[in-house]
This record gives sequence, C-alpha cells and structure tokens, in this order.
Amino acid sequence: MNRSDYCNAIREGHVGQRVTLCGWVNRRRDHGGVIFIDLRDRTGLVQVVFSPERHPAIHRQAHELRSEFVLRLSGEVARRPQETENPKLPTGMIEVIADQLEVLNLAQTLPFQLDEEGVGESTRLQYRFLDLRRPEMQRNLQFRHRVTQSVRRALDAEGFLEIETPMLTRSTPEGARDYLVPSRVNPGQFYALPQSPQLFKQLLMIAGYDRYFQVARCFRDEDLRADRQPEFTQVDLEMSFVEANDVMAITEQLVGTLFQEAMQQTLPLPIPRLTYAEAMARYGLDAPDLRIPLELTDLTAMMRQTGFKVFAQAANQTGNRGGRGLVKALRIPGGATLTRKQIDEYTEFVAIYGAKGLAWIKLNGPWQEDGWQSPIVKFFSAEEKAAIVAATGAQIGDLLFFGADQASVVNESLGRLRVKVGKELHLLNDTAFSFVWVTEFPLLDWDNEARRHVAVHHPFTAPMLEDLHGLDPAAGLAAPHLDEIRSQAYDLVLNGTEVGGGSIRIHDPALQQKMLAFLGIEAAEAEEKFGFLLKALDFGAPPHGGLALGLDRLVAILLGVDSIRDVIAFPKTQRAGCLLTQAPSAVDPLQLRELHLRSTHQPKG
Ligand code: AMO
Ligand code: AMP
Repeated sequence: MNRSDYCNAIREGHVGQRVTLCGWVNRRRDHGGVIFIDLRDRTGLVQVVFSPERHPAIHRQAHELRSEFVLRLSGEVARRPQETENPKLPTGMIEVIADQLEVLNLAQTLPFQLDEEGVGESTRLQYRFLDLRRPEMQRNLQFRHRVTQSVRRALDAEGFLEIETPMLTRSTPEGARDYLVPSRVNPGQFYALPQSPQLFKQLLMIAGYDRYFQVARCFRDEDLRADRQPEFTQVDLEMSFVEANDVMAITEQLVGTLFQEAMQQTLPLPIPRLTYAEAMARYGLDAPDLRIPLELTDLTAMMRQTGFKVFAQAANQTGNRGGRGLVKALRIPGGATLTRKQIDEYTEFVAIYGAKGLAWIKLNGPWQEDGWQSPIVKFFSAEEKAAIVAATGAQIGDLLFFGADQASVVNESLGRLRVKVGKELHLLNDTAFSFVWVTEFPLLDWDNEARRHVAVHHPFTAPMLEDLHGLDPAAGLAAPHLDEIRSQAYDLVLNGTEVGGGSIRIHDPALQQKMLAFLGIEAAEAEEKFGFLLKALDFGAPPHGGLALGLDRLVAILLGVDSIRDVIAFPKTQRAGCLLTQAPSAVDPLQLRELHLRSTHQPKG
C-alpha cells in the first residue's frame, strides 16, 4: 500500500477511484455512528469517513484515533452528500470512504493545538517540530523553497556558477563580531565563521570564474532584532568585467523572475533609483519606504537669521556630513486634525532618536489672518512664514513638523517619524511592493569612538574615481574631505527595509593600498588580516563587483510576515539561543581541554 496522492490533490475528478493517503489526524469527529477525520499532510486536508455499515472492522479501529496519530489509509473517493460540502476547502466537495487503515504511530496530547491563536513564541520555538506542522509555517517554508529554486534557475540561465566557499575561515570584515571556532590541532588558534563569502567571491573572480553565486549561510554576532538573525542566508553573487549598472540590471532580472515564478506578479522594471544624498534629503533614511507619500523639506538656508533661536543655531552649525546643522520640515497633508495627545506621542517618539523637541504648526487658516496654531509661530517674520509655505507646499488643513539639530539627528528622527505617521494615518497601500535602489553611498564614515574612518560598506568597495581626484592619504587630508568621497556601492530597498547590498570592488592594488591608508589600517595589520586578497590583486585581478540579497528578509516581506523567524525553519531567539536544542550550552571539560581552552566565566549563585 503505497501513497497514491497527497491529501490536497484529491478533487471531484477522483470520484469513484481508490486512493492511498499518508498523514496526520488533524481532527476526529464522532457523528453518532459515522466517524470523520481530517487527514493532513504538507499540502493540506482531506475528509476521511469511517462507516460502521460499510466497513465495520475499520470503523472499530477508527474509534482509537487521536489528534496527530500518523496514518496510512486507502479508500474510494466519493462526492460529499449535499449540504455537507465545504466550499472553503479545496477538497471540500469530496471525501474518502476508508476501507483500509494502518496506524503508523501514536502521538501524545500536544502542548498546544495547531489551530490555536496566540501561542507564545517561546512555546512555538521549543516545540518547533509541531509549530512547523501549522499551515502558515508550511506555506512560509514552501514559499521560501520556491524563491530559492527560482533564484537558482534564473542565475543558472544567466551563466552563473554555484560555488561553495568555506565555513571555517578567517574573519571577513563586514563590521559585526565574529563567531569563532577553536582549532584542536592548532592550539590557541581559531577559525572565524564567515560574515559573508566576500573575500572568497573576489578570489573566484581573480581566478577567472567570471560569474559566481551561492545561497550562502552567513554568521554575525550582533544585536538581534526582528529582521536580524545570528545566522542568516544570502543570495550572494559576483561578476567580472562589469560596472554597477550591470550588477543592478542582473539583480532586477533576478527579482523580476522570482516575482513572476513565486508571486505570479509582474514587477515593473527598471527599479527606480535614488542617490544616497537624495534619499537622505527627501526621506531622512538610507532605506526609504516609498509607499509613503510624505517628504522632508530642507529649510536650513532660510532659517539662518530667524528669531527662533533653536532653528537659527542649528542652521548655522558647521560640521561634516552627519555633524553639520539642519532644519527640516515634514508636511502632513490634512494633519491639522491631529490631537495634542498625538503630537505629544510623536514628540516622545522622535526623542528616541535624540531629537530635543518636535516643533509644529497647524495651518488652520492663512497665516495673514493669524490662522496658524503653533508654539513657535510668534518667532517667525512674515517673510519666513511665506518662505515656509513656498518651500513645503503646505496648504490650509495641513500640519508641519520641524526638526532642528545636527544632520544625523534631524534625518533619523524625521525620517522615522515620516514612516510612523504614514502607517498610522494609513497613507500607504500595505499590500504593495515598492523597490528602490539607493546608490552612491558615502565611502567612509567617521567612527567617534575609534577616532578614525571606517568603511561604510567594506574596505574593498571602490570609490567613485571622480571624487578621489587630488586626494592623497600621505598628505594627511582633513576629515571633511574624506567624508565627501562617494563609493560605487548600492543597496536594494524593499518597503523601507534593506534587502540587498553590494558594490564594485577595488581591483587596482595601488588603489587598495590607498584605501587602507584612508582607513588608518597599517600595512602590517592589512597583511595580517587579508594579505591573501591583497596578494591576489597583484596577479591579474579583473574589474569586478557584486551584491548579496538577504534571503530571509526578502521572503519575509514578500509573505507579509513581521519577523524573519517565521521564514526560518529553526531560528534563534533575541538572545541568540535555540529553544529546541538548548544551544548554546556548556560542554564537557574534556572537550575544552582538547581544544586547549579554559572558561573564565563564573556561573552566578
Ligand atoms: P551586507 O552586509 O549588506 O553585504 O549584507 C547583505 C544583505 O544581507 C542581509 N543581512 C541580514 N539578514 C538577516 N540577519 C542579519 N543579521 C543580516 N545582516 C545582513 C541584508 C543585507 O542587505 N558581502 C556584502 C555583499 C556584497 O558586497 O556583495 C554583504 O555581506 O538584507
Ligand atoms: P521651546 O522653545 O523649548 O519651548 O520649544 C518650542 C517648540 O520647539 C516645542 O514645540 C519644542 O518641541 C520644539 N523644539 C525644541 N527644540 C527643538 C529642536 N531641536 N528641533 C525641533 N523642535 C524643537
């Protein structure tokens, strides 16, 4: 008796045929005599009937069935009697009249019902093998599979080779902490798990493989959030003899194919582009959600002379990219109806991002007729009021929010406020998908703690050559100049989340040395950390570049789930633990001794 079909494959066309099904008892119902079960497998449900008249022996056996017992059964497919059809179920027009039944295994009472709402996530993760039986998780993982297969087909069709790179390796500079693995045979030495295949994929380009991809597991020991896991998956790719446009074009083709195949939707291409500078100016964030029809307006220049000291001070503050002063407005069409309480809540919200206040104006009527309601309007001259209207396009009935501070604070606080207000006032279509490329990221960022520049993407990202003109690290350039160098790096953003990022790499060894000098990385340190890559650049490195998509994030957004944990079979908690296996855990002292390790940790109590 071999399985003939999956449960959810049975339709009216099967009526009169015999089928053999395998699966779990989703539910059993006793209807005084006749026993019904819903049999479930990964595809869905089908109703099975045990009739006391037609098959008395099997019917007696069916009395013993309980939820989640594992069965194999055979029977004839019959049309359901009228009135008992269930149009909500794909198999709702038919049922299987069982005449053979094998109980393959029993199950204890479950810690939660599979159809129970609101089961705590820790319970779900502890019994993940049960949680994964739920239709929602079945849907999520089957969808993820389709996306992955679609990616493989699309890249194979474009001539990409799938090549695996090591898991036990050296540190990859992606900016997070490494997970380390002690070496038993090399006492005192450690491997690092890869934060990405970055260095190896560049070596593959130098080795002439031309187009590479990998569905690659990456490991990063960083603070976790709903969209971050300590181990996650990238669709990682790299190409030789290309420019940024080529990498973006291939990525668009890939995303277009998977939209067609996994979502049955046609994605409008090309994906729009914004430079980093434009994204920051208009949306305050480098991963803007373009579904929200609100924009920021820069008022800095017109506020240099204003009587409102908070604005004037910010407008005159000089500094580098994030440190210079800014005054910006966020216009909320129709926002004059917001209550004091709502405005107070938004003021508390922007404080999280360092804003010292949230000035506002309600345009209840024309300013010429004292129609503006606001704690700050008394400070503004007629010219300033007219200029605010002209710059923001504000109309009667609108509300304006203002931020005045250093650029990084104004942009982040108003940028996040824009998203929050847009969502709370239902200004967006949340079933839509809005992709955007953000290009020309800054090359370097000033790290205040380390007192040096760090790479925004990674140290192998190529600068925009026109910005390098005349720059020489040996001449000891002042920080503001370095802050203005743009890179050939691009991020792919979907609905306000960064789902991918990449760059054109440096293939010229002299430029790479210059870049390391900008970063304040000494030759000895560079040699020690990634000397192998620097050496390889000396042996005929082709121009190359690539990108990595965050597969977990992409799949989660496409499915509309809030957390990437819902698209990963066995995810970890915010504390980087696995509740199912109880990893991480203490290990046998003998194992530590073999690894030449001793823990300095003192357990509490
Ligand atoms: P990057 O660090 O931007 O680039 O990573 C690429 C994409 O991976 C996803 N991602 C994550 N997803 C889940 N959990 C995490 N902890 C996590 N961290 C990153 C994001 C991100 O856009 N080597 C470069 C790529 C390249 O230059 O080709 C890299 O790793 O969606
Ligand atoms: P104050 O002069 O401190 O009473 O503030 C007047 C208004 O300006 C209040 O609505 C504050 O929330 C707002 N405000 C104060 N500081 C800032 C700032 N840095 N950016 C934006 N608004 C501010």
